[in-house]
Amino acid sequence: MDEKTKAAPVYRPGRVLFSEREISVRVRELAETIAAETRGGGLLVVGILNGAAIFLSDLARCMPLELDVQIDFMSISSYGSAAQTSGTVRVLKDLGGDIAGRDVLVVEDIIDTGLTLSYLLDMLKTRRPASLRTCVLLDKSARREVAVKVDYRGFTIPDAFVIGYGLDWAGKWRHLPDIRAAEPWAG
Ligand code: PRP
Repeated sequence: MDEKTKAAPVYRPGRVLFSEREISVRVRELAETIAAETRGGGLLVVGILNGAAIFLSDLARCMPLELDVQIDFMSISSYGSAAQTSGTVRVLKDLGGDIAGRDVLVVEDIIDTGLTLSYLLDMLKTRRPASLRTCVLLDKSARREVAVKVDYRGFTIPDAFVIGYGLDWAGKWRHLPDIRAAEPWAG
């Protein structure tokens, strides 16, 4: 088969890298640390769709009542269906309200090159929040192309294609309760 007729690779769930239990323990720890380092007055938790939806929903439910949490989402597209970043960042859905004077926590499923979060933070800073922190579940730190302040991280991982718990290949596998290596599949 020549290059032109070669089919795009298909990926399916491979070995478990982080079990449901490991994720749950770490998410609870993150929520406790965030709560301990957040003053009163309300925390706006901003999830970046689609990947962060599952992580955010677990993280937010571990946050104590006193934190006075509100939840909002943004949608920023940078990858499409490819496994590599295009470097192009587009805002598909913006926040529902003003964040001026608010304590904001941006939640991401994964940071890779850092381009998405870097762009997003620069944009949100111009809206004058009282504070702007970041929480990422997975950090592929070896792949960073731009420096980004990660305030809270779940796990640092090597440069591997991972799926599950919000992370996808071609829109699939986000629903897996654990995080797995994506395994090329011949079909
Ligand atoms: C993923 C992830 C981050 C971004 C990180 O999003 O959720 O937003 O890539 O990569 P970077 O650090 O190289 O910029 P993706 O574009 O895959 O969309 P998704 O959240 O809908 O899966």
